[in-house]
Amino acid sequence: MGKNSEKKKSARGLPATVIGIDIGGTGIKGGIVDLARGEIVGSRFRVSTPQPATPDAVAVVVAEIVKELSSRAEAPQPEMPIGVTFPAIIQHGVARSAANVDKSWVDTDVDALFTRVLGRDVHVINDADAAGLAEVRYGAGEGVDGTVLVITLGTGIGSAFIFNGHLVPNAELGHLEIDGHDAETQASAVARERLGLDWDEYSVRLQRYFSHVEFLFSPELFIVGGGISKRSEDFLPNLSLRTRIIPAELKNHAGIVGAALQAALHFKHEQL
Ligand code: BGC
Repeated sequence: MGKNSEKKKSARGLPATVIGIDIGGTGIKGGIVDLARGEIVGSRFRVSTPQPATPDAVAVVVAEIVKELSSRAEAPQPEMPIGVTFPAIIQHGVARSAANVDKSWVDTDVDALFTRVLGRDVHVINDADAAGLAEVRYGAGEGVDGTVLVITLGTGIGSAFIFNGHLVPNAELGHLEIDGHDAETQASAVARERLGLDWDEYSVRLQRYFSHVEFLFSPELFIVGGGISKRSEDFLPNLSLRTRIIPAELKNHAGIVGAALQAALHFKHEQL
């Protein structure tokens, strides 16, 4: 059986397409996701993140993106839920942290806010968890059993903990305290820029981080995501780990695809 037909089979029972939206610090991006292939249909639609990025201001932008995507010929039916990522702990739809986002998000019921503003069902998920789901279903972690850790290097460090294809949500491994520091302040992509590190210097930071995570969890596979994964040949070969470590495959689509996938899984579950 070819790869595509296997992918189609694995999507059985899911809606064909769902809108996914990825909320980031600088941009909010949306797309219509084909869930059989884990790909965006047509172009992405991006709007700059409003500043200050308060819940109400962000909800307005999310509504604008959904309106644009819904006007397209290939748009999903309006009864389909919308999937949204958010860069914080999300428990039962409620934001429980705000490391790199406006502090007013803490304790905001993000599911309820967006569902109210959009007038349709919305499911919110942590951004790295969404990327992780997308990578194990459609990308670099497809078919890998055991523990897969997807680590995203961006403004912060995000993490998705996946065991036998199932997500253990809100792992927050970017906030491990290593050598007296919150790890993401030393080893995120933005920390590299802030500290003016070249790739060799940055690799030393990543070595310290990944060795520690490897010691704690003994994963089968590390997948490195975030925009910096485009430059993975500049740092991954420098790392010495017993665990295989590879770049993410979905690149900057992982959040949108993962957001749509988890909303589709909620929808399927609710129909059973
Ligand atoms: C947040 C995580 C998020 C990560 C990547 C961290 O600072 O605590 O929830 O997944 O940044 O955006």
